[in-house]
This record gives sequence, structure tokens and C-alpha cells, in this order.
Amino acid sequence: VNSQTHRPGQAILFDIPTFSDDRGALSVLEEGGEEGGGLPFTPRRLYYLYGSDAGQLRGEHANIASRQCLIAMTGTAEVDIDDGTGPRTFVLDRPDRGLLLEPVLWRVVRFGDAASVLAVLASDLYDEDDYIRDYEAFRTLVTGP
Ligand code: TYD
Repeated sequence: VNSQTHRPGQAILFDIPTFSDDRGALSVLEEGGEEGGGLPFTPRRLYYLYGSDAGQLRGEHANIASRQCLIAMTGTAEVDIDDGTGPRTFVLDRPDRGLLLEPVLWRVVRFGDAASVLAVLASDLYDEDDYIRDYEAFRTLVTGP
């Protein structure tokens, strides 16, 4: 992730630094080294979503302060990201690609198949007070009443 180009409220798809050789691949996400593809935050939490049928929706919330990086470790997930001006869809379908989400963004995750595993690295511990789960409340927050 390039620190010169990422700003609050943005979603950025980026290549995760990966070392491949005849044994396979190894991808690394660590804090810092943003010019080299590192994370622009300290990961304090990992959670992962799996066991959803194809087409299943999850997410449907915005975080107020938590910065997150989504990675499809296996399978495919489509992520609709809305900054208040309308959705943009990102397809996550490889483990060497990350989607960085800077608050405040509405997100909807759509699972591509039942084997998909979507990992999320977050800058904060879980806090329900960091969630906006009502789309109209989100719209009001980002665009004004
Ligand atoms: P939920 O926010 O509904 O998942 P998503 O919106 O990403 O599809 O979370 C499901 C449940 O898990 C909910 O009861 C809150 C709980 N949860 C935690 O306890 N800790 C966490 O870090 C997360 C992400 C969720």
C-alpha cells in the first residue's frame, strides 16, 4: 500500500508482497514498509468468515474508526464498498491480494462459493460501538442529513 495515495474513506486493492519459488508461495502482511506493500496500521485482531453458501451476504455495516484489510485466503468474495456516493465492487479471488478499507465505508461481502475463507486484519479490538449497522445512519454520517 502506497502511503502517498491512500486517504481516509478509501478502499484500495493491493498486491501483498509474495515470495514464490518451486516450493510454492509465501505472502507477508506486516505493519509499515508501505512503499513495499505493507499495512498502514498495526494489526491487533484477525477474524475470518467462512462456511457461507455461495451468494450469502455478510458485512452490511461500516466501521467508524477501525482500519481493516480483507483477504480471500481461499475461494472468492465480492465486496461492495460505498463511501456514500454509491457502491464499487471489488473481487477478491487470490490470497496475494488485499483490500484495504479506511473508515468510514459501508461494506457488503458476497461469498462466491461455500469453500471461501475471507480473512480480515483489523487495527482495533472488537467494539460494537465502532459499528454503524443502519445504512441510512451511515449515509447521514458521511453526506450530512
Ligand atoms: P457480524 O458483525 O454480524 O459479522 P459481519 O458483519 O462481518 O458479517 O458479527 C457476527 C458476530 O460476531 C456478532 O455477534 C459480533 C461477533 N464478533 C465478535 O465478537 N468479535 C469480532 O471481532 C467480530 C468481527 C464479530
